[in-house]
Amino acid sequence: MNVFFYYYCNMNFDKIIDRTGTNALKLEFRERLFGTNEVIPLWVADMDFKTPKEVAEAIRKRAEHPLYGYTSRDEEFYQTIVNWQKKRHLWHVARDWVEFMPGVVPTLIMAVQAFTDEGDKVVIQPPVYPPFFEVIKDHGRIIAENPLMNTKKGYRIDFEHLEKITSAPEVKMLILCHPHNPVGRVWNREELEKLGSICLRNDVLIVSDEIHADLVHGDQPHVPLASISTELAENSITCMAPSKTFNIAGLNTSYIIVPNEKIRRAMQIKLQAYHLFTGNMFGAEALKAAYKYGEPWLEALLEYIKGNVEFVLDFVEQNMPEIEIHKPEATYLMWLDFSAWGLSDAKLRKFLIDQAGIGLNYGPTFGSQGKGFHRLNVASSRKVIEKAMTQLLEARNQIM
Ligand SMILES: Cc1ncc(COP(=O)(O)O)c(C=O)c1O
Repeated sequence: MNVFFYYYCNMNFDKIIDRTGTNALKLEFRERLFGTNEVIPLWVADMDFKTPKEVAEAIRKRAEHPLYGYTSRDEEFYQTIVNWQKKRHLWHVARDWVEFMPGVVPTLIMAVQAFTDEGDKVVIQPPVYPPFFEVIKDHGRIIAENPLMNTKKGYRIDFEHLEKITSAPEVKMLILCHPHNPVGRVWNREELEKLGSICLRNDVLIVSDEIHADLVHGDQPHVPLASISTELAENSITCMAPSKTFNIAGLNTSYIIVPNEKIRRAMQIKLQAYHLFTGNMFGAEALKAAYKYGEPWLEALLEYIKGNVEFVLDFVEQNMPEIEIHKPEATYLMWLDFSAWGLSDAKLRKFLIDQAGIGLNYGPTFGSQGKGFHRLNVASSRKVIEKAMTQLLEARNQIM
């Protein structure tokens, strides 16, 4: 079906949907995070858009059966994932490689627990999604930072530094963010091969968080790390989910793809140990419907996000060119560098909240490399994004 036809008939991303009364974190945590409810919430990574109608319908259908006891997942659940990987990422996944997980962050914790010991080191590449820090240090492991390099052409991996730190025997794991949150890079095949060979050479297991894999809107296609070679497939855990893609994070349903039987078994044991294997029955139905029927909606969504990204880039270039942004290749997140304003992080944060009235993610929570930055979530109606950017400009004009 033609994307635009579908978009106009079935979906209107411009429509502002009131989320009050739904306990949406994005709204309800404003007071706690920003000290006020008077900010446009553009922080936590979910979208202000309705999920595809087929997904809502599948949930409704299941809800109509008034028995909500423990459930398992049917064969279709796994087969749908296999088909999605083949169709969207050209990755031929065997059904047995797939295991349900109740969320990607819990999966990262289970992997850290299963494959490292207290005192071992785990590599991450900041600036990066804040829970990456917590899943390591909250469990008695040590963070080994391999900071990304912010170059004129965008963020790059520092391979020399990676080689150096992974050669230490206490480094046991690397948690990769691919595509990367917050910098929006989709690591290309060459970068993945280089990173992969360094990890293989130094016996470092790669946990590849690919939760944003479906949200690619640049020219660079998403290549799952494990699809590159048998060696990498055997030395990795890939984490994926329909949650970001279809705006169903509240259903706590994700999965891992692990070709290596020993590694997969260890993850299954962790899932059993935490008694999390039953999962969320609505999440399973939603995943199947999303992957079976959600593609036209996703294509339309990607066009809309691309439009929002371009709007922000143009607006900033024309009105506030001192704010630096690398165009994201994926995700609905933008990483804004306000360093040119010369404000301390505390002052910048206060300014954005009190003067501009916008609630963004505070850069330093992504690591010390986030100094001077804030993360903007553009998965909202264009009108909301326009309002936020206009407020930002008006506030900025008061101090410039
Ligand atoms: C890179 C990354 N991993 C994991 C998550 C969260 O995953 P989950 O809600 O399944 O724990 C997010 C959410 O923003 C994310 O950006």
